Amino acid sequence: MRVRAPRHRLKVFAAVAMTGALALAGCGANEDDGSDDDKSEVEVFSWWTGPGEADGLKAMQADFAKKNPGTKFTNAAIAGGSGTQAKAVLASRLQNNKPPDSFQGHAGAELLDYIKAGQIEPLDEFFARNNLYSVYPKQLLDQITYKEHIYSVPVNIHRSNVLWYNPGILEDAGIDGPPQSIADFITALKAVDDKTDKVPLSLGAQWTADHLLENVLLGSLGTDAYNALWEPGAVWDTPAVTKALHEFGQIMRYTTLEAASTDWQGAAKAVVDGKAAFNIMGDWAYGYFVGEAPNGLGKKLDTDFKYAPSPGTEGTYMWLSDSFTLPKNAPHRGGAIAWLKEVSSKEGQDLFNPKKGSIPARTDGDKSLYTGYLKYALERWTSPDIKLAGSFWHGVTANNKWHTDIDTAVGLFLQNKDVGKLQQGLVNAAKNSGQ
Ligand code: GAL
Repeated sequence: MRVRAPRHRLKVFAAVAMTGALALAGCGANEDDGSDDDKSEVEVFSWWTGPGEADGLKAMQADFAKKNPGTKFTNAAIAGGSGTQAKAVLASRLQNNKPPDSFQGHAGAELLDYIKAGQIEPLDEFFARNNLYSVYPKQLLDQITYKEHIYSVPVNIHRSNVLWYNPGILEDAGIDGPPQSIADFITALKAVDDKTDKVPLSLGAQWTADHLLENVLLGSLGTDAYNALWEPGAVWDTPAVTKALHEFGQIMRYTTLEAASTDWQGAAKAVVDGKAAFNIMGDWAYGYFVGEAPNGLGKKLDTDFKYAPSPGTEGTYMWLSDSFTLPKNAPHRGGAIAWLKEVSSKEGQDLFNPKKGSIPARTDGDKSLYTGYLKYALERWTSPDIKLAGSFWHGVTANNKWHTDIDTAVGLFLQNKDVGKLQQGLVNAAKNSGQ
C-alpha cells in the first residue's frame, strides 16, 4: 500500500529533494517511481489512429523505446474522433477491472469522472519526483487536481475554436475575409451557397455537430456567458441561448448531410481539397493538413487553406488538453510510470506536438519547432490578454454524463430540427449532470 502525502507537503518534499539533502533512501526502496513494478510492457490507450495524431504518438513512442529498451510498447488506440468509440471500450474495461496501463483522458470535468469512480491513482509523488509542478501552467494544474491531489499528466494544449477555410472559394463567393461574427458567418455561408457549387460548411460524424455547437455558443453568447453555462446551477433557458440555438440551426442548414458518416478527417479534408469553403474543427486538423504525405495531406498554409478564430470568438482560446493517467491496478505499473515520464518530458512533448497540431502543455517547449499556425497558437495561448473558455465536448467543462446527454439532444435535433426541443434537452442535460 502506497501512502501519498497531500500536495502542499509534497511541494516541501520536492524542494528538499532538490537540494540533495533527502536522498530517496529515506523513503523506502523507490516506493513510487515504478521501479519495483512490472516494466516489461506498457499498453497505452488512446483514440489517435489518424494521420497527424498517430504520427505524433509514434514519435513519442520511438523516443520512449530508446529510453526504455526493455519495455514492450502496445499501442491500444481505437479509431473514432474525439474518442467516441474509445471511451465506450475504456468504460467497460475499467468496469471489468481490466484497465490499460495508461489511458488518454481530457483534463477537466472528464477526468473527474475517473477520479470520483476511484479508477485512477493520484500522481502527487510522480509530479514531485519529476519536478513537474513548476513546468505546467497553474490553470492547467487546477484542471487535473481534485481535493489537493493531482491525477494526470498533460501532454498538450489544443484549441477548439478554429475556423479553417479555403481562400479560393471565399474569393469566388465574393467574401473578403473570414467572418468575424456569427451573423457575418451566416451571410458568408449563404454567399457560398448562392454563388458557388461548393459546400458552405463541411461536417462529419455527429460529434462534429457537438463541436460546432460549442463554437456557436461561444461566438454568440461571448466568453463570460459561455463559461457561466458550465457553472453549478447554470441557467440554459435564457433568450440568449435561444438566439444562439436558432443561429446554430441556421448554420446547420449550410452543412453537408451526406458527410454524416465520415469522421472529422473527411470534413476537414473537404476544405483543403477545394470542395468546401469552411470547417470548424480543433487544431488537430492542422497536423493532418500539413503532415507529410502519404500519412498527412502535405498541404500548404495560406495557399490550400487558411485559419481564423471561429466567428465571434476572437480573443478567446477555447482550450482542451490531452493527458495520460495511471489506472488503479494497471497490470504493468512500472511501464505506465515510464510512459508518463515520456509524456511529461520536454523532449516527448516537442516530438509529439508539432505532428499532432497542438502546442506543448509544458511552458518550456522549444518555440522554434512551432511554425505556421502553431506559432500563432503558442503566441495566443501565452498572451496576457487572451481569455480562456473550456471546451465542453472535449472534456474540460462537462463530465461524461452531461456530454452524452448533450450529444443525445443534438442527435435528436439533427432529425427534428426543433430548436425548442433542443433547448429543453440542453436544460435537462445541465440539470441532470450531477456536476
Ligand atoms: C479530441 C482530442 C484530440 C483529437 C480529437 C480528434 O477529443 O483531444 O487529441 O484526438 O479529439 O479525435
